[in-house]
Amino acid sequence: MKEVNLNTGGSSYRISTGRSIVFAENQFHDLLSKKDRVAVIVSSRILELYDSRIKGIFRSYNNCDFFPMKDGEENKNYKYAEKFLNDLLSGGYSRNSAIVGIGGGVTGDFAGFIASVYMRGISLIHVPTTLLAMVDSSIGGKVAVNISAGKNIVGSFYQPEMVLSDTDFIQTLPENEFKNGITEVLKHAIIGEEKLLTILEENNLKSLRESDNVEAIVYLSALFKAKVVEKDEKEGGLRAILNFGHTVGHAIESLLEYKTISHGEAVAIGLLVESEISERIGWLTEQEKRRVADLISKYDLIYNKYKVKTNDILEHMKYDKKNTAGKINFVLLKGLNNPVYNQNVDIDLLKDVLGNLIF
Ligand SMILES: NC(=O)c1ccc[n+]([C@@H]2O[C@H](COP(=O)([O-])OP(=O)(O)OC[C@H]3O[C@@H](n4cnc5c(N)ncnc54)[C@H](O)[C@@H]3O)[C@@H](O)[C@H]2O)c1
Repeated sequence: MKEVNLNTGGSSYRISTGRSIVFAENQFHDLLSKKDRVAVIVSSRILELYDSRIKGIFRSYNNCDFFPMKDGEENKNYKYAEKFLNDLLSGGYSRNSAIVGIGGGVTGDFAGFIASVYMRGISLIHVPTTLLAMVDSSIGGKVAVNISAGKNIVGSFYQPEMVLSDTDFIQTLPENEFKNGITEVLKHAIIGEEKLLTILEENNLKSLRESDNVEAIVYLSALFKAKVVEKDEKEGGLRAILNFGHTVGHAIESLLEYKTISHGEAVAIGLLVESEISERIGWLTEQEKRRVADLISKYDLIYNKYKVKTNDILEHMKYDKKNTAGKINFVLLKGLNNPVYNQNVDIDLLKDVLGNLIF
């Protein structure tokens, strides 16, 4: 097991990564034994796959309830959150209760949101079970739910008290979900963690899934993201580099209504486009851009075919939460490992690059 400590101004917690850490040891005891009630919000798929093992972890807490959460982005919503908060109140949950979220980013974001608002905030533990959740969504304290007008619109920064990334869960993760996580690993590799770039270049989709490699990419990603979050918890500046690939990615996801395209594929398209823009303005060399494109192709990170019109993507970029004063903000690369945030892109160049997209 390896640990990363994340210290923000107001909180400090450990992110544990490794094999069999959730099931092998009682990691929760110190925190949960002091709580009057524990709500375990668990992805229904995870409960289906790991039922007795998950329940076994919490057997010693007789004040513990399981709340299976249906999978799918559509369930990470405000209406469901309100119903859930009412259930906690009628179930006798207090300010001294805790929430444990076990699942992918959908379950984690939802559980985090509930913990952040119930009685002005109660203890939260994340147990991420997808690669994307281990390398990205469980780290850094962004919690949110969707409303009909937009995704992740209602939320806040709310740090957990512990994150347990047990890489055993990856064994049952479907391949396309694994690829969605690799896209975020690749993003970290491109913007600052060279060791990840080496691992991605030396492996392939099959070998990367071997447990030593999974452990390494989860640990290195957690370490990298934690370092960025420590410097800028609330995304006032530096943390924006983590949005590399996401300006275009979010616009495409929103255009396709979060249905036909996964977050990972949309971001992979964004990584390609934003690398291409960086090259066209002379910041990235042709060879560096090729390294990014080759990895996207080697790991098959865009695994479906999409037809999207340039003007439609541009239209959806206007509503991005990252925009300021009506300007669309990009993260661009002044070379690999050198991202620069808050960049504007000439509209004709943007149209040209988007117009040449073929998927
Ligand atoms: N908070 C953040 O900083 C942040 C960052 C990135 C993404 N997100 C959010 O994360 C969400 C996407 O998360 P995701 O990609 O983990 O998707 P997800 O939570 O929808 O999980 C993907 C699928 O994998 C299944 N699954 C989960 N773990 C499994 C396992 N071990 N074995 C088998 N199946 C398993 C789930 O049931 C689901 O069907 C989005 O809502 C996005 O907005 C949040």
